[in-house]
Amino acid sequence: MLGDGEFDKLVLNDGIEVWVTLMGPYLNMNTAFIDRSANVVAIVDPFDASRWREALFEDGLEPTHLLYTHTHRDHASGYQEMTRLFPNLEVWGHEDARVPHLLAHPVFERVDFTDSWGHPPFEGVEWKAGGVSLTITHTPGHAPGHVTIHGHGVFHAGDLLFTNGMGRVDLPGSDPELQFRSIRKGKQILETLPGNWRMIPGHRYDWIDGTTPDWVSIDEVLRHNYALKSIASQ
Ligand SMILES: [Fe+2]
Repeated sequence: MLGDGEFDKLVLNDGIEVWVTLMGPYLNMNTAFIDRSANVVAIVDPFDASRWREALFEDGLEPTHLLYTHTHRDHASGYQEMTRLFPNLEVWGHEDARVPHLLAHPVFERVDFTDSWGHPPFEGVEWKAGGVSLTITHTPGHAPGHVTIHGHGVFHAGDLLFTNGMGRVDLPGSDPELQFRSIRKGKQILETLPGNWRMIPGHRYDWIDGTTPDWVSIDEVLRHNYALKSIASQ
């Protein structure tokens, strides 16, 4: 189990690195996809800019892209400092996650995307930078413009799914019906992916046996996650 700010680093056969860490009091999980040869470091929802910078600098790297699953404050807490430290960053999110009408609510953080996705709910688009190749699926319900991000052995679920649960649907901008349909879409995707890929949740909450693993396999999440089990397979 990762300590706060500790990194798990995996180098895949194709040379892409996947770094995973847990940060902060809300147990946020962050994932980075790195292609050293192309100088690409794409971080999903970085929680703490200083700790990310320190860890990357030790390895001779610096962030090039931020990818946002959604713009809730805990997921976007590293945004201001990241863009101050690295003003040339590409900042990506779904157009629907800009939520100007919801920014007065403390659950949201303003994120000025430099680039955005605009695809309809329950559809996916490819995103590439160097050798990093990811599928971005629009999965609203927990928050407007929520996306999941998968590729390179990882399904990063944001707050669509936790290991044994799913994100809240009682917040401003939440929509329970959309969440149901997004969970159904997520299940369809998970059923097509290799069962040994990692399902990395937006937060590290309790698993079915009371332990709190950083991630579980796709096989495990399909077998046990209560939200996924509530929906019949297609
Ligand atoms: Fe959230």
